[in-house]
Formats: sequence, structure tokens, C-alpha cells
Amino acid sequence: MFAKEGLEGVVAARTGLSLIDGEKGRLSYRGYSIHELAEHSSFEEVVHLLWYGELPTRAQLDQTRRDLSSQRGLHADAVEILRRFARDASPMDMMRTVVSALAIHDPDVHESTRESNLRKGIRLTAQLPTIVTAHERLRKGKDPIPPDPGLDHCANYLYMLHGRKPEALSARALDVAMILQMDHGLNASTFAARVTAGTLADLHAAVTSAIGTLKGPLHGGANHDVMVMLRTIGEVDRAAEFVRMELLQKKKIPGFGHRVYRTMDPRAPILRSLAERLGKQMGQEKWFQISVVIEKTCKELKNLNPNVDFYAASVYYLLGFEMDLFTPIFACSRAPGWIAHVIEQHTDNRLIRPLEEYIGPPERPYVPIDKRA
Ligand SMILES: CC(C)(COP(=O)(O)OP(=O)(O)OC[C@H]1O[C@@H](n2cnc3c(N)ncnc32)[C@H](O)[C@@H]1OP(=O)(O)O)[C@@H](O)C(=O)NCCC(=O)NCCS
Repeated sequence: MFAKEGLEGVVAARTGLSLIDGEKGRLSYRGYSIHELAEHSSFEEVVHLLWYGELPTRAQLDQTRRDLSSQRGLHADAVEILRRFARDASPMDMMRTVVSALAIHDPDVHESTRESNLRKGIRLTAQLPTIVTAHERLRKGKDPIPPDPGLDHCANYLYMLHGRKPEALSARALDVAMILQMDHGLNASTFAARVTAGTLADLHAAVTSAIGTLKGPLHGGANHDVMVMLRTIGEVDRAAEFVRMELLQKKKIPGFGHRVYRTMDPRAPILRSLAERLGKQMGQEKWFQISVVIEKTCKELKNLNPNVDFYAASVYYLLGFEMDLFTPIFACSRAPGWIAHVIEQHTDNRLIRPLEEYIGPPERPYVPIDKRA
């Protein structure tokens, strides 16, 4: 029997990581509401929660912080690839390529035990922001900024981008945005990671698949498209008319709609409040004001709600990221989730191999080449 197009409604894995209630608009990681984690937690703490199943003690959190901050440096060959392709490659292509290359020298590449996956997971999670920021600086003709081991993961991300320690609100905004995107059930990139891991391929192979899958505009690419839209609109009083015209032409508004949520994506209001606070602090309230009008118009005209990407776009923009770095930030955020899923998959593996419904011609005799029309 044929399942729905796009596997909608099909349960294809068991997970103890995140629970989404699409009807009520709720999301939790290992039983903790995303609202509480966004309020009280940090990137490192949520990484620990996903990988080890429980919130860390203070000593465990310090250890996770140390583990991550000590592994941020890239192998010289990875830096060489970045230098070689910095000007030509898009950031997502660069990230996918460097992650793939990092497997070459990884001491655990041939092992997929829980312990070796955790060691590789630390290295990958720690190094992704180094890849993004080194590429960004190299393509602008600047030298990469070495990581500062004294800074937490997200503060260091901004530090490697700008070369100065970030304001507390900026570092916290990135921290919260990255927590909110860390896991989300069997989304397309996580599914890709699990399918790859399900063949017993290694973690780098799975994360490479996931990065490739995240790139598309129906998934991680939407946050970039949101900012393009905000800049195209440019002024608050043009926003409502712009949305009306797009919807009339049956175009999709980036950052709206969701396969699972039938109501508001619970991550969106948290990011909305961050976008507002950051905009105020930086004296750049226009993007938030345009966004609010778009949200109101989408609701009125098509009962559409914003998803995680909508307000994330203006948050990233205000933090000084170029627009084509938005999807890479999403990848850096989702990577610990992918890694947790690969560990789950490897723990109790069964090859993921669904069936297909054949719709081609019936079986027929082979025609020799000189008898073909
Ligand atoms: C996320 C997304 C791919 C989900 O798609 P889906 O589950 O396949 O839902 P559909 O595309 O079938 O949409 C269902 C209906 O809502 C409409 N819709 C969904 N998202 C819309 C959007 N962003 N803008 C305008 N209309 C939208 C569709 O046009 C369709 O309307 P119809 O029944 O009148 O034809 C889709 O909402 C989308 O393309 N959003 C924009 C990209 C985006 O923000 N992606 C990030 C997701 S986190």
C-alpha cells in the first residue's frame, strides 16, 4: 500500500530525543520544554542533555564545556581546503566538503561505538563554527581568527566572526537560537543522517548527508530566503501589500507553514522576542517591524503561522552574519541533534529501506540498438 507523498504521517524511527506536539504547538527535548531550556539553559548544557539523556551536574557541564572548547581548531588540511575554495564555494557547500574531509584524519573514523561517536561528535560540533567563520573571513581576504578557549561556544562563534568579544545580549541571542534548533524529530536532514547511519556508515558520512539535505529552501535554506524577502520589502508600509501580492500569485512566503505544526511553531515566539530586543538594543527596529506586519498579514489572509526560520533570520542579521551564513548557523545548531540521532540509530540499528510503488512500463523484451526507432 502506498504511503502518503513525502512520507507524511509515517512513523519511521523511535527516538528518546525530542517530542513534538504539532496540534498543541509544543516541543521538548528529553522531557524538558523548549521554553524552559531557552530561558535557563546554554548550548553546552543542551548538548549534554541530548547526548547523555540528563541535564548535567555542574562538574559534567564544566567537562562538556572543556571538551568542546579544546577541540575547536581545524586540521591543517581542512584549513588548506578552506583557503583553496574560499572565494568560489558557497558556505553550505564549503561546510559539507570540509566535514567530509575531516573524516580523513579523524582517529575514530572506522569506529561507530557510542564512545567513539561521542568523541567525533565533540570534534564536529566544536569545529563547525570554526569552518563557517574561517571561510567567511578568507573569502573577504582576511585571516581566520583563532578560537578563544575562554569563551563559551556561541560567544566564541561571534568572536571568530567579528574579532571582538560579543555583547552579552548578542551571545545569549545566538545561544538561545542554537538551542531552539538543536533537534526537531525526524526532519529531513535528521532523517538523511539516520538513513546514512542505518547502513552502518560512520558519523562523518551521516553528518555530510545531513548538511546536504539541510541546504534546500524547503528546509534550512528558508532563513536565508526570509532575509532576502525582508530586504526586498525594505520599508514597513510596503510589507502588507507585498505579502498580499505574493499570496495572490500562489507563491510561498519563506518562514511560514510547517509539515508538523498545525498551530504556531513554539520556537517562533521565543525568536520573535529576541529579534525585538536585539533590534531595540542595536537601534535597528525596522526588520522586526516589517516581520510583525508580514506575520499579521499571513495570518489574516491564509491562516499561516511563522516557523522557526522567520524570526531567526532577523536575529542572525542583527548579529552581523551575512545572509548566506544563516543556513550554516542552522547546521551548527542542528549538528548535536544529528549526532544524537546517529548514536541512537547505531545503538539499535536496522537498515532503513522503505518500499516503492513502481509506476514505469510493464516488463518488455529488450530491443537491439539497430531495431530502435
Ligand atoms: C514547510 C513547508 C515545506 C511544509 O510544506 P507541506 O507540509 O508540504 O505543506 P504544503 O506546501 O502542502 O502547504 C499546505 C497549504 O498551505 C500553503 N502554504 C504552506 N506554507 C506556505 C507558505 N510558506 N506560504 C504560502 N502558503 C503556504 C500551501 O500553499 C498549501 O495551500 P493550499 O492547500 O491552498 O494549496 C511549506 O510550508 C513551505 O514551503 N514553507 C516555506 C519554506 C519554509 O519556511 N521552510 C522551513 C520549514 S521549518
